[in-house]
Amino acid sequence: MSYNNILTQQEGNAFIITINRESKLNALNRETLQEIKHAVLSVQNEKTVRGIILTGSGLKAFAAGADISEFANFNIEQGKKLSSDGHEVMNTIEQSAIPVIAAVNGFSLGGGCELAMACHLRIASENAKFGQPEVNLGLPPGYAGTQRLIQLVGKGKALEMLITTDIINAEQALHFGLVSKVVTIETLIETCKEMVDKIATKSPSALAMVINCVNDHFKNTSPGFETEILEFGKAFGTNDFKEGTSAFLEKRKPNY
Ligand code: COA
Repeated sequence: MSYNNILTQQEGNAFIITINRESKLNALNRETLQEIKHAVLSVQNEKTVRGIILTGSGLKAFAAGADISEFANFNIEQGKKLSSDGHEVMNTIEQSAIPVIAAVNGFSLGGGCELAMACHLRIASENAKFGQPEVNLGLPPGYAGTQRLIQLVGKGKALEMLITTDIINAEQALHFGLVSKVVTIETLIETCKEMVDKIATKSPSALAMVINCVNDHFKNTSPGFETEILEFGKAFGTNDFKEGTSAFLEKRKPNY
């Protein structure tokens, strides 16, 4: 299968998905997200795939968020749909029976951070940077960032990141439990492939059971996920959203 925005290839036990929009810092437009979802689903019954590695092209970004230029003119209904479709993609990754590793090779902001958080494991390169800058745009996060960030770093740190939009580096992400390991950019994919090789020595059916049990602990039906979709949609009707997205596209600071 060939895609417009991602590259896929199998290397040994690993199926590698690379977001291929380097000039836009791998910003996630809707088509890219659907392609990632399709690629993850496409290998679920492939016995030779023992782990999925998700990464970004180039040395600067894993993904710098949802594609702001695509949604800047959306209305409330379109905003809500954007969020609920995004949630579905993230849930697909989280529910993959084959472990998914985010190889975070640079900026992992907004939707990029949410994408990494939907994966089962996260390995960062030393230059990786994590953050949820959405409130700068007059929006809350829309791809379940308000929920999974709490799960991973706890309510206190999550609220700090969501409210201040401070970006944390790879070492801080390791400290707060957002990533499992920090390695050089040169060894990032190799490290992830070694992890997949380790996973390949385990029982695939038992791994699928573990993933199912862990996911069930958090139950995506908890009200916070649905609330986020509604609030994200609501934001599209505000002047703050118009100011925030215009400011980004005009390369200036927003005036709230
Ligand atoms: N959506 C759409 N385009 C994006 C993008 C996004 N989330 N993030 C980066 N880009 C584009 C830029 O518009 C620019 O395109 P251009 O060359 O056509 O002008 C290109 O990617 C390179 O980004 P640029 O901002 O010039 O790089 P930088 O090194 O100066 O800054 C960032 C890097 C990550 C700090 C900055 O791009 C940024 O703040 N991005 C948005 C982050 C964000 O708010 N994400 C949440 C979205 S919901």
